[in-house]
Amino acid sequence: MRKRILFLAGVIVSAALFAGIGITLATDAPDEISILDPAIEKHRKGAVKFNHKKHAVDYKVACTECHHVYKEGKNVYKEGDPVQKCSACHDAVKSKGKVKKLILAYHKNCQGCHKKLEKAGKKTGPTKKCNDCHEKK
Ligand code: HEC
Ligand code: HEC
Ligand code: HEC
Ligand code: HEC
Repeated sequence: MRKRILFLAGVIVSAALFAGIGITLATDAPDEISILDPAIEKHRKGAVKFNHKKHAVDYKVACTECHHVYKEGKNVYKEGDPVQKCSACHDAVKSKGKVKKLILAYHKNCQGCHKKLEKAGKKTGPTKKCNDCHEKK
């Protein structure tokens, strides 16, 4: 009987540990992605390696810094909500008012944050050099 309880306790602990691994980056978000956006017809630059997990977990960047769904001017995206591709809203060819075209959306998001942190004297990512983000073609 005692053995059985111990065994069950072990199962529960391992299940919790296993689940814990999944919680580090909630939902089905990938750890590392290589961005070569298929919405852009012709790529002049190589793919961009982006460590999604490091940004969200190690650098503690909130999901809402990059993911948004605007309702009446407010970002109502919450962690766990389904995520649409940037290209679902940001057109690859041209900006539509405040919804900038795709390349600007990426650059503004990525470099925008890195530059802001640089100004504040904090640790940051690439701000200028193209090949710090883009793989050489
Ligand atoms: C620093 C920016 C950034 C942060 C922070 C971030 N993401 Fe992302 N995420 C992205 C980018 C860029 C993509 C790729 C978008 C695309 O392909 O159009 C993406 C894609 C995704 C996808 C879709 C994956 C797929 O296979 O299509 C999910 C789900 C996701 N993110 C969830 C999250 C969650 C949850 C958080 C917070 C815990 C988060 N993201 C934090 C930038 C970020
Ligand atoms: C559901 C539609 C939608 C998706 C998906 C989306 N955006 Fe946006 N984005 C918008 C809208 C609408 C605005 C304009 C918001 C405003 O200022 O009123 C915007 C604005 C922006 C801005 C400008 C914000 C500023 O500070 O001026 C950036 C940068 C941006 N998006 C990047 C991205 C990136 C990168 C992704 C993918 C990870 C993405 N967006 C996905 C709709 C979307
Ligand atoms: C809201 C802030 C923020 C946004 C948005 C952001 N980053 Fe970063 N990024 C950081 C911080 C903070 C670091 C470095 C922190 C450190 O080294 O401790 C970093 C580091 C990096 C690095 C170097 C280290 C590594 O993890 O590979 C790369 C490359 C990078 N970012 C690419 C990107 C790309 C591509 C995007 C857009 C898809 C992006 N970042 C969006 C905050 C941001
Ligand atoms: C902080 C990271 C970062 C830096 C630095 C950066 N880019 Fe990008 N860039 C991106 C991301 C992310 C995308 C979207 C990924 C894709 O589809 O190529 C992108 C897309 C592009 C695109 C559209 C896609 C293509 O391949 O034609 C061009 C052009 C581009 N960048 C040029 C540049 C140039 C030129 C520089 C240097 C002056 C530069 N980028 C620096 C992150 C960066």
